[in-house]
Amino acid sequence: MKSTIALIAVLLVSLSSTGQELNSPNSDLTMSFELLTDGTPTYTLHYKNKEVIAQSKLGLELVNESMSLRNGFKVSNIETNSFDETWTPVWGEQAEIRNHYNELAITLEQPEKDRHIIIRFRLYNEGLGLRYEFPQQDNLVYFVIKEEHTEFAMTGDHTAFWIPGDYDSQEYDYTTSKLSEISIRFDEALTGNASQEQFAKTGVQTSLMMKTKDGLYLNLHEAALKEYSLMNLNLDESSMIFKSWLTPDAVGNKGYMQAPAVSPWRTIIVSDDATDILASNMTLNLNEPNQLEDTSWIKPIKYMGVWWEMITGKSSWNYTDELPSVKLGETDYLKTKPNGKHAANTDNVKRYIDFASKHGFDALLVEGWNEGWEDWFGKSKDYVFDFVTPYPDFDVELIQEYAASKNIEMMMHHETSGAVRNYERHLDTAYQFMNTYGYTSVKSGYVGDIIPRGEHHYGQWAINHFLYAVKKAADYKIMVNAHEAVRPTGLRRTYPNLIGNESARGTEFQAFGGSNPNHVTILPFTRLIGGPMDYTPGIFEMDISKLNPDNNSHVNATIANQLALYVTMYSPLQMAADLPENYNRFLDVFQFIKDVALDWDESHYLEAEPGEYITVARKAKGENNWFVGNVNGVTPRSTQLKLDFLEKGKTYEAIIYADAKDAHYKTNPQAYKISKKKVTYQSTLKLNSAPGGGFAISIMEH
Ligand code: NOJ
Ligand code: CA
Repeated sequence: MKSTIALIAVLLVSLSSTGQELNSPNSDLTMSFELLTDGTPTYTLHYKNKEVIAQSKLGLELVNESMSLRNGFKVSNIETNSFDETWTPVWGEQAEIRNHYNELAITLEQPEKDRHIIIRFRLYNEGLGLRYEFPQQDNLVYFVIKEEHTEFAMTGDHTAFWIPGDYDSQEYDYTTSKLSEISIRFDEALTGNASQEQFAKTGVQTSLMMKTKDGLYLNLHEAALKEYSLMNLNLDESSMIFKSWLTPDAVGNKGYMQAPAVSPWRTIIVSDDATDILASNMTLNLNEPNQLEDTSWIKPIKYMGVWWEMITGKSSWNYTDELPSVKLGETDYLKTKPNGKHAANTDNVKRYIDFASKHGFDALLVEGWNEGWEDWFGKSKDYVFDFVTPYPDFDVELIQEYAASKNIEMMMHHETSGAVRNYERHLDTAYQFMNTYGYTSVKSGYVGDIIPRGEHHYGQWAINHFLYAVKKAADYKIMVNAHEAVRPTGLRRTYPNLIGNESARGTEFQAFGGSNPNHVTILPFTRLIGGPMDYTPGIFEMDISKLNPDNNSHVNATIANQLALYVTMYSPLQMAADLPENYNRFLDVFQFIKDVALDWDESHYLEAEPGEYITVARKAKGENNWFVGNVNGVTPRSTQLKLDFLEKGKTYEAIIYADAKDAHYKTNPQAYKISKKKVTYQSTLKLNSAPGGGFAISIMEH
């Protein structure tokens, strides 16, 4: 790993009796720290001389403590640093990442308690990270957090792209509204889920994207969430201040701490250009460098799945419909009548392997391969799966050999159904089973309420589990893609075998009633700020009743939009989620999914407006091939796309997959047009995007 580090201790702060100032390397941002007269720490943030975060308090409230870590502080030490390094990610949107910031660490003494904490600020060109640090000391060792009181004081009634604050689910459509309208629109923003719990009608999740009246883009999130509970935000409507709201544990506490310890970073990304928010690497940079010595086994994956047929209800995960309950080890499946709809059967799996292999995919996911699916859902059942026992019609060895002979790797599926304790008990055996049979990656899932009961998906307990599962997977050289786990906060830098997460409303909801057509123009500004999403794109048949007559759901996207997602939704893990028979009907557009790269040297965010459109160009790693994607919201749009990112003096062939003139996500989603053109860095393409549409372009060196 190449990195150049310059660590210079310079005085970047201006000192006065009341506070300190810190500037970003390019001086666009200024952070001011101040202690109020009662010793409460505060910060303020300015962007290009405009206040973007008004004076906001910092601190923590502890359980059973009359005096919390909120006030009574005195500044006892100030340290400043400037840091500039360039590091190489194992996989990512670009070959090299610059980590450049100025830092201010303020030691705050609480004389009355003879204890201290540090608040560390890192100011990047695009934003601020701040965290609490609890150094080792005699009078602050074990403590329990009642609430973190970090404030983000808004300077106006901004437009926000938000989903309801929740301790267990992020699988919501986004609502676009003024901050003052959040509470009014909260109930209509709710949709059902197997596990969810909101805490206030003014509560929202991070990453929260906002736009101010004067055109500033503002994003609030967190980085490096470890051994701590996840932060939601609660808006105090009278003051327009967002306040941190941590996820409680089963008894209502919000974090068991043992010093030395640190909190996650609280992040604020700011720009007057929306594309800067998409291009930011701040969340990643605030995480620790890669901890895995050998990463040769970690690689991007293009995969298909025996999956969409179950999601649409065409087939089932379960083997039989006869069993009201399953007792693993006691239930004899051979004595039951198969339901005839079990998709994870050897012949069907072989059919997918054939198709995936023929079209150059890397891997195949199979869900519903293991015993226990008859009563997996909504029963708060502890011992649901053992993760190693296949159904009678799934021949693990034969499938593995067949896949290997066709150059396909099998992707394991571990649905825990929220029974996390049970999963941890079986984890070693389950990973060992994967090693034995050659599975190199796992899609895990956490549907339903967590067991131990009362714990939440985003509480400290579950968060510790999610990371434990990723670290343990690394011991077995296994890559992890966790669904319904906590939303990512850049941990992929430290543990690059965490190749994906769902943690938002994915394509599956297009088969559960549909998602907003502009959903994918918001996700890169929100959910993807923390890391890649296993969004599972590539649906070509939008009328779900064609797969399952009992399901009238409609996929709110055009085919061109589905193609664009492989570029606009960055992920090293990309699925072609539709059925082979649907791809066979559209092999000309399927070509884009076959061609598109998974790993990149460069990414250029060309134009973007949350909720409206996003256009991205990326250069394939180690090749002179480019891929461009545009996703569009509901307003038809045309654009002049300059290809000035291409190498001078080279001629390329562009294949343009665009919406046809009359395409529309609802009424005419399968109307597309493919054209070919010779292009150079001087070319400009005029392109139109339909409502819920977009375009995808492959630009290969000629
Ligand atoms: C929810 C996941 O998001 C989905 O992809 C999976 O098929 C089901 N859980 C079953 O595990
Ligand atoms: Ca899900």
